[in-house]
Amino acid sequence: MQPTVMLPPFPLTIEEWWWKEAVQRWPEMSEEKLLNLFRHEIVKQSDRFNKFRNFDADAYGKRDLSILAYGNFYFSRTWTAMTFAMSEAHCFRGWSPPKKGPVRILDLGAGAGASGLSCLRYLRSKGVENHLQLEAVDYSSKSLAFLKKLHSSKNDLWPDSRITTVKQDLNLSPSTENRKKFDLILLGYSLNELQKEDDDESNYTQLFSSLPDLLKSNGMAIITEPAQADLCQLLQHESNKLVNDNQSIHLHSPYFNGMPCPLAENQSRYFSHEVRKFKPSDIVEKINRPLNLEIREVKFGLSMIGAAKPVEMRKENQVCRIISPLKKRKGTVSFIGLASDGQEYNYEFQRRDLHKEELNDLLDLARGDILKISACETEVSFGRIRLQMMNQMTPLFMPRIAYG
Ligand SMILES: C[S@@+](CC[C@H](N)C(=O)[O-])C[C@H]1O[C@@H](n2cnc3c(N)ncnc32)[C@H](O)[C@@H]1O
Repeated sequence: MQPTVMLPPFPLTIEEWWWKEAVQRWPEMSEEKLLNLFRHEIVKQSDRFNKFRNFDADAYGKRDLSILAYGNFYFSRTWTAMTFAMSEAHCFRGWSPPKKGPVRILDLGAGAGASGLSCLRYLRSKGVENHLQLEAVDYSSKSLAFLKKLHSSKNDLWPDSRITTVKQDLNLSPSTENRKKFDLILLGYSLNELQKEDDDESNYTQLFSSLPDLLKSNGMAIITEPAQADLCQLLQHESNKLVNDNQSIHLHSPYFNGMPCPLAENQSRYFSHEVRKFKPSDIVEKINRPLNLEIREVKFGLSMIGAAKPVEMRKENQVCRIISPLKKRKGTVSFIGLASDGQEYNYEFQRRDLHKEELNDLLDLARGDILKISACETEVSFGRIRLQMMNQMTPLFMPRIAYG
């Protein structure tokens, strides 16, 4: 099975840039000392995210150490998540750049720019020739300064692009009056950091409700979040609430024909997120050696909201998105897919029906891939769809990174 789109890998020159920034900041430190410094900071950041969930401008974005540790360890993965998400908008969900004039991009919670710059790089790598304008918003001016510096020192990755930065707290209602409209609005792993008191989601809701007024008529808001069940369910609930309250915008992803995420509504055992293979850089490998964190996958929850009508898919069960890992048993290989009729199905092959290369192809599918399935009625029973031949499956969206 051939991928439907090949994506540019995270640039080596950016990996090198982050390491050089760190060496320049602490020139007296040996490599091992610097790696250890980052390891401690990463454990702290991961505890802050998983245990304490306290996010404020002072805790993170005011310190060189947190930004440089993030840049050297997490940056390439949030970058790659946005590359996948952008390719879905562009290659599958009908987003296209304007015929004339610049592509205007708003990056909310931009940090040092992993999502926004990944978007610029993606557009240039796919031959989009418009002038690119990125407006990056964050409450950490230090992070925004790194973003600007990185953008200007690697200009060959995104020629003819301009950046403006805005220091702003997204917990305070952003004014949409006299505001420009955008072709793309990005929220890369930032929404979950908006401050919450107890289970109050009002900041989240408030930010979401400002999106429709900021989108151009073919504009798309692309939101990635860490792949945690509670955060992903919340993202899907809030996205659904937004389109229900607002007739002028529609849900484009993760599913089909504007349908809300059934997994969030039905308390399914799965939650909507993607798990895609990723080749970590040498620095990430080195930092990770004693930490032993999962670094070979990019995992993210995804939502896309746009002003245009979603691309129409057949409403029966012929199109599905993979929502589970591939399950390899003695006699069968199967996965769960969420189909365009809103139901979960178990798609199953008998291993004896598959040649070795076909089995490898099947196991190469990833959670998040979208497939067209042709199965006759007799093959469907009690939520299970039995398939005999690989040519019953055609990939509609199967992005892969073009590692050299
Ligand atoms: C996990 S980082 C993600 C950064 C970047 N978007 C990426 O893709 O890697 C979250 C970012 O959101 C910013 N952030 C969190 N709460 C914010 C708020 N209330 N106002 C503005 N920015 C905020 C943080 O400063 C940080 O840069």
